[in-house]
Amino acid sequence: MHFSTLISVALAAAPAAVSAAGTLGFALGTKNPDGSCKSQSEYESDMDAIVAASGSTLVRGYAASDCNAAQNILPAAKEKGFKVVLGIWPDVEESFTKDTEAVKEYGTKYEDQVYAITVGSETLYRGNFTGAELLEKIQTVKKIMPNTKVGTADSWNKYADGTADDVIRGKPDILLINAFGYWQGQPIDNATHTYFDDMMQAITHIQSVAGDTDSIEIWNGETGWPTDGGSDYGAASAGTDNAATYYSEGVCGMLAWGVNVFYFEAFDEPWKPHTVGDSGNAADETKWGAMGADRKTKFDLKC
Ligand SMILES: *[C@@H]1O[C@H](CO)[C@@H](O)[C@H](O)[C@H]1NC(C)=O
Ligand SMILES: *[C@@H]1O[C@H](CO)[C@@H](O)[C@H](O)[C@H]1NC(C)=O
Repeated sequence: MHFSTLISVALAAAPAAVSAAGTLGFALGTKNPDGSCKSQSEYESDMDAIVAASGSTLVRGYAASDCNAAQNILPAAKEKGFKVVLGIWPDVEESFTKDTEAVKEYGTKYEDQVYAITVGSETLYRGNFTGAELLEKIQTVKKIMPNTKVGTADSWNKYADGTADDVIRGKPDILLINAFGYWQGQPIDNATHTYFDDMMQAITHIQSVAGDTDSIEIWNGETGWPTDGGSDYGAASAGTDNAATYYSEGVCGMLAWGVNVFYFEAFDEPWKPHTVGDSGNAADETKWGAMGADRKTKFDLKC
């Protein structure tokens, strides 16, 4: 798929005319609402709710050893016919080692349930690694699971501005691009425009550095919008109506465009502590779920 071709197709025709729709998945946390670690059966209930509401059978996590995530989620996925993107948190050596061990032990045991492995989430954005350093970590993990797709996830602008070029040249199997109209402080009526623009910039840059359009599988790794009770960010107002609009226009539009999307996130996470953002304002990150902590949908999740 070449993005500039897709754009002209999308401009020329209704999205419904684009044949190959993207695949939808959800980011899924490792903890119950009270902060305890999820068991296998709790992951199974999560998966039941996700497939019933959206039809999706794919979830992604961030750190395979956190709350014994790989150990508990992979048998649940097998039971429920789901696939999982396992994460390795490489920022510090300790978590890199622990997550890699978890992938080695459980990922290989449940290989059919592992859709892919991401080494790092926004590490270039945070400045933890250079592209070359991150590529080396990706290649280390690839040696452990040579038959599984391995790559990374980062913010759209770190792909667009060249920070990830060494990663791209190394031709990882898969790259996830995070892009949020919300985190660019966009009002809801321009948020989908910004989301598409971000994704387009990142994808066209990746494809031009890769020198082709198909050697690296590309996903939108995260997008989403906080619902009622969440924090505003600039002109981006939290609210369930806005989240529903962003989902139906942005997420469903991106899928119709042929791009794979992970929605951030499946369920509210009320255990999360409030953080103070760059602006000095308190940020509530507990209300990003497409569904509540009770696993009930807040708006229509079918496209
Ligand atoms: C790397 O990432 C961690 C968060 O995972 C952060 O606390 C730390 O400051 C970062 N290190 C550098 C050198 O940026
Ligand atoms: C809308 O989004 C586009 C793409 O990000 C941006 O260039 C433009 O400035 C935005 N418009 C407004 C009014 O913020």
